[in-house]
Amino acid sequence: MSHMDHDTSGRRTWLWTVGTTVAGLAVTRTVSGTQVAASPVRWRTDFPALGQLINGKPLAYLDSAATTLRPEPVIEAIAGYYRTINANPSATLHTLARRSAEEYAAARTAVARFINADPREIVWTRGTTEGINLFASSWGGANLRSGDEILVSVAEHYSNWLPWRAIARRTGAVVRVFGVHDDGRLNLEDMERMLSPRTRLVAVSHVSNVLGLINSIPEVVRRARSVKALVFVDGAQSVPHVPVDVRALGCDFMAFSSHKMLGPMATGVAWARHEILEAMPPYQTGSNMAHEVTIDEAVLEHDGQKFQAGTPNVSGPIGLAAACAYLNGLGRPAIAEHEQTLTKRALDVFTRVRGLKLIGSTTADDRVPVFCFTIDGVPVPAIVKALDEEGIAVRGGDMAALPLLERFGTKAAARVSAYLYNTVQDIDRLGAVLDRLAR
Ligand SMILES: Cc1ncc(COP(=O)(O)O)c(C=O)c1O
Repeated sequence: MSHMDHDTSGRRTWLWTVGTTVAGLAVTRTVSGTQVAASPVRWRTDFPALGQLINGKPLAYLDSAATTLRPEPVIEAIAGYYRTINANPSATLHTLARRSAEEYAAARTAVARFINADPREIVWTRGTTEGINLFASSWGGANLRSGDEILVSVAEHYSNWLPWRAIARRTGAVVRVFGVHDDGRLNLEDMERMLSPRTRLVAVSHVSNVLGLINSIPEVVRRARSVKALVFVDGAQSVPHVPVDVRALGCDFMAFSSHKMLGPMATGVAWARHEILEAMPPYQTGSNMAHEVTIDEAVLEHDGQKFQAGTPNVSGPIGLAAACAYLNGLGRPAIAEHEQTLTKRALDVFTRVRGLKLIGSTTADDRVPVFCFTIDGVPVPAIVKALDEEGIAVRGGDMAALPLLERFGTKAAARVSAYLYNTVQDIDRLGAVLDRLAR
C-alpha cells in the first residue's frame, strides 16, 4: 500500500508499505486527498520515463495509443507486491497467500467499479486481444451456427476482426462489414441495412485507434436490439480516456487493456453481463477454474473465476487497480479538459503543415487525442525517423487497420497519440518538425 507525502521542499514522494489494506484503494484515498486540482505539469512529475533524453532531446512521448507511460504509484504497486506478498493466492492458507488473495480480490472490485461492473463479471486476460479471442472462442463457439452473421465496422483493429473471422470460419458463420462516413463516423444506416434475424453479434470499437472518434455505443445497441443481436465493444482506446459505464452503454461484452491506461503490460479485462458469462463454457481448463475434480468429473467455478485457469497474474490486476485509482485521483474531468486542449492544439498545428492529410474528422468534437495522417511526398517511415531524431515518439504503419486506411486511400499513416502527461509544447515541437519535413 502506498501513501504520498510532501517533504520539506514540497516535493511529492510516494511511500510504500505492504500490509493489510488494498493497493488500489489506498492510492485512491491518497491521491484524491491531495491532487484533485493538479496541473499537467505536476502530473508529469509522477512519470519517471519523462525524465530521460532521447537522442539528446527531452522525450515527447506521443505514442500512448500503442502503450502509455506508467506513473510511480503503478510501478510501486507492482514492485511492492513482489517485495513482500509474492505468494500464490489462497483465501485459506498461510498469511502471505491470504494477503495475495485479498489484494487480488480487491483489485477486481476496484477495476469493476471503474467501469461500473459487478466484480463477478470481470475476467482477467493478457489484454484486449485475448479478451476478444476468449469471447469469440467461448461465446461464439457455443452460440454461432452456419449462416449466422457477425457485423463489424471497417474501422476495427485486427484484434476486433480476426478472432471473429476465425470463429466464423469454424462455425460456418459469416462476418459482414459496414462502413464509415468520410469524417470517419460509423455509418449507422449502413449497419442498419445489414442487420437481419441472422445477425447474432455486432462488434465495434468504442474509439478507433486510427480515428480517435468516440462512437455512440447506445446508438449501435439500440439498432442491434431490433434484431436481438448482442453487442461487443472494444474498449482498448476508450477506457483510458472516457469514463466508461458498461451499464449505461447497454452493451453485452467489452474488452480493454491495462497497458493503454497507465497499468502494466500483459494484463487486461474481459467483461460480459453476468448471465452471458455464466452460460459460456470455459475458455481454458486446469487448476483454479474447477473443484471436486475426480478422474471423470469436475465442478466448474462460477463467474469470472471459471475463465481463470492456472496461477493468476496477481501483480497485473494490482497494477491496473493502482492505475484506475491514479486516474480517478487526478480527476477524470480535469484529464478530459487537458486532452481537449491538446486536441485543439494538434488540429491547429496539422492544418498549418503543407500537404498534411488527417484521416477522418478535423474537428475536436467527440474525440480523444489520437490522430493519423499522411504528408504528401513524405514516406511514413521518414516522418517517424525525423521525429525520433528530435526525441518525439510517434507510430507509423498500417495501425493494424489496413481496411480502414484503404477506405481513406492509403496503406500507411503516421499516428500521434497524446495522453494526460503531454503538453502543448510537445505538440508544438511535433509541428515544427512536420513543418520542416513538408517543405
Ligand atoms: C482499438 C484497439 N483494439 C484492440 C487492440 C489490441 O490491444 P492489445 O494489443 O493490448 O491486446 C488495440 C491495440 O492497439 C486497439 O487500439
